[in-house]
Amino acid sequence: MAFYYEEPSRTFSEYLLIPGYSSVECVPAKVSLETPLVKFEKGKEPELSMNIPMVSAIMQSVSDDRLAIALAQEGGLSFIYGSQPIESQAEMIEKVKRYRAGFVVSDSNVSAEMTLQDVLRLTEQTGHSTIAVTEDGSPNGKLLGIVTNKDYRVSRMTPDTRVKDFMTKLDDLVYAQEETTLKEANDIIWDHKINCLPLVNKNQELVYLVFRKDYDTHKKNEYELIDSSKRYMVGAGINTRDYEERVPALLKAGADILCIDSSEGFSEWQKLTIDYIRRNYGDRVKVGAGNVVDAEGFRFLAEAGADFVKVGGGGAICITREQKGIGRGQATALIEVAKARDAYYEETGIYVPICSDGGIVHDYHITLALAMGADFIMLGRYFARFDESPTKRVNINGSYMKEYWGEGSARARNWQRYDMGGDKKLSFEEGVDSFVPYAGSLKDNVNLTLSKVRSTMCNCGAINIPELQQKAKITLVSSTSIVEGGAHDVMLRDKR
Ligand code: IMP
Repeated sequence: MAFYYEEPSRTFSEYLLIPGYSSVECVPAKVSLETPLVKFEKGKEPELSMNIPMVSAIMQSVSDDRLAIALAQEGGLSFIYGSQPIESQAEMIEKVKRYRAGFVVSDSNVSAEMTLQDVLRLTEQTGHSTIAVTEDGSPNGKLLGIVTNKDYRVSRMTPDTRVKDFMTKLDDLVYAQEETTLKEANDIIWDHKINCLPLVNKNQELVYLVFRKDYDTHKKNEYELIDSSKRYMVGAGINTRDYEERVPALLKAGADILCIDSSEGFSEWQKLTIDYIRRNYGDRVKVGAGNVVDAEGFRFLAEAGADFVKVGGGGAICITREQKGIGRGQATALIEVAKARDAYYEETGIYVPICSDGGIVHDYHITLALAMGADFIMLGRYFARFDESPTKRVNINGSYMKEYWGEGSARARNWQRYDMGGDKKLSFEEGVDSFVPYAGSLKDNVNLTLSKVRSTMCNCGAINIPELQQKAKITLVSSTSIVEGGAHDVMLRDKR
């Protein structure tokens, strides 16, 4: 006979936190959101941790190099999507690792033979007013000069005037060698009262531009997540099919951590993938596994050697439940797995972090997930709304939207994520292709979300995540109180 659960499976919106005692010491500015990313032994520190408990979903419409840089700047981590050729995924990883905050590869370049008209067109297209003049017009060609809007007067010059006749020539430019540190570059910028400093290599080829304005932005990233060489940290999704080729390439590109991306993690395929990594790299290479939704699944992956375990019963774009009638409410799944993780810790002395993946609709769901035992949260829809996500921003009926599609949709065709060992194809869809409301920059939104998380943690009397997990009091809410939880019995003046 089939096993029947006594309780229905529940989602985050069915729960609320109950305020606890908070002392005067417990203020949002003092709250730490630091959290472990990989397993560790009792009494020891995890080898990798994050400064905020947020990671971005392993999805084409969410995690590319641009989003990864923006999220690492805020203290979180992206897992670059694996449903792409190995070479392009490795290239995205390399771009994150090569990125030096404050050092920009020039993307507006001309050759000296080009004209004022070319300069104006480029400025219009890119919105950039500093244009590098290189021998071949490429970003890393031999530097001949710089053009800014101080070098030309459109009303006094003809459009066919050659760049070489009005650019600021190299001899008159302040520039420095590529080894210059950001601090030194900024001292030069200030000493010479310039806005931009080109850095060149020993062959006089342009390597980077350092802008005065970027230094100020860089200084603001107090939580940035960096490795021991001060490069941004980045993760990568892998699958249980081509790991023998993909894993070495991603590691060579500099990936800090891997995660097996699957809708069904309680499977021998995951164990085989982890075995391959342990056989070839020992414990040096970190790999998360999932998704699971119950204690048995957690134990299986913990015993298989996963560095963290991902818990997920489906996200905003998920149609697995209607297609296959399988899944579990995210809150119930998380609560059960967190109990299993604590029992495993008690028994073995090894703490395996858990990641709650998908289903975050409101910011407070993040706080709830942490309180229920998640060490960090994976979000797809949330990040897809921002400027930095890889998808197009479109205007629909007067409102800006961003595209967001599931890995199991016909658009992504990520058959490996749903692979049960059959043909190499996606037989039916488990996700949709959709739009989400455009929401602006990642930085502004993450800061706002986390200010709410910190504030709620203080309401619960918790100054860090482990304390929240110990002190949180959580209640189920009735359907009436869910309705009355929002503005009710009033007529809103502004549409929200
Ligand atoms: P969200 O934050 O609610 O948008 O959920 C994101 C999560 O949904 C991802 O991290 C995946 O675990 C999951 N997911 C991604 N694509 C699909 C799909 O096509 N079908 C079902 N689940 C998906």
